[in-house]
Amino acid sequence: MATYSLGHEDAELARLEAQADFLREPTRVLLEASGLGPRMRVLDLGTGLGHVAAAVADLVGPDGEVVGLDIDPRTLEVARARTEHLPHVRFVRADVTRWRDDEPFDAVVGRLILFHLPDPVGALRHHLEAVRPGGRVVMLDYDIGGLRAEPGDPLTDRMAALVMAAFRAAGADPTIGSRLQGILADSGVEDIRGLGIAQYLASDDPVGPAMLSGVVRSLAPVMVAHGLATEADLDLDTLAARAADSLQSAGSVLVPPILVGAWGRRP
Ligand SMILES: C[S@@+](CC[C@H](N)C(=O)[O-])C[C@H]1O[C@@H](n2cnc3c(N)ncnc32)[C@H](O)[C@@H]1O
Repeated sequence: MATYSLGHEDAELARLEAQADFLREPTRVLLEASGLGPRMRVLDLGTGLGHVAAAVADLVGPDGEVVGLDIDPRTLEVARARTEHLPHVRFVRADVTRWRDDEPFDAVVGRLILFHLPDPVGALRHHLEAVRPGGRVVMLDYDIGGLRAEPGDPLTDRMAALVMAAFRAAGADPTIGSRLQGILADSGVEDIRGLGIAQYLASDDPVGPAMLSGVVRSLAPVMVAHGLATEADLDLDTLAARAADSLQSAGSVLVPPILVGAWGRRP
């Protein structure tokens, strides 16, 4: 199993909630564009707190079914609570690189999961066998290479570079979004389409600095362990306020990581 670089601490669960809120609209647009629809039976890989499972449940409707898969029992507890009013959603605690259902799926989806797997092509091949012929594979992931302030400001530039370096040091690929189409093709998926959605946060929008400092906080142990930064240098307790000041004084727009979707069908 892959090492999961972000951990499952309380602060990380809170960060995932805030991130899911932020990704709600682009996720919905990408899932709709991918062709998911009523009555489909869908598997959600690395379901986390269940936000994608809930969005898919809405698209497939009560005559469809969603199975959310995750290795972490705490996130699954939250996911179950989130969807307890949706009888067509259920969750399984298992490793996505190994688990497979006996019944075929109409589609397999996953958001921010391939990012963490050492062999994303292997994982998708494994699940493609459980998708019915003609069924869909829909993967959403970040291209963190898109993260920047415009015009550039020194603190955001430094934090963006540190986040990229920390994910790489932890064995995760921070620009995997840009490679999703190739990963799907190598897994045996056909008729692939890719679409990325960038958001633009005004210089006084508190969401940008909060997200930036949140991800730096979650990755701080990796940064320190790999000698990329020191705790004193990161000064996590003041980072969000410093990032906000820095963006505002430069009048910079923050462009967070691009959420890329790629989808296609099983031959
Ligand atoms: C960044 S979170 C994304 C959660 C959710 N898909 C979303 O977009 O909100 C990644 C999730 O994948 C899960 N995960 C990581 N590696 C896994 C594996 N090998 N098997 C099952 N789940 C895994 C983690 O526990 C975590 O909940």
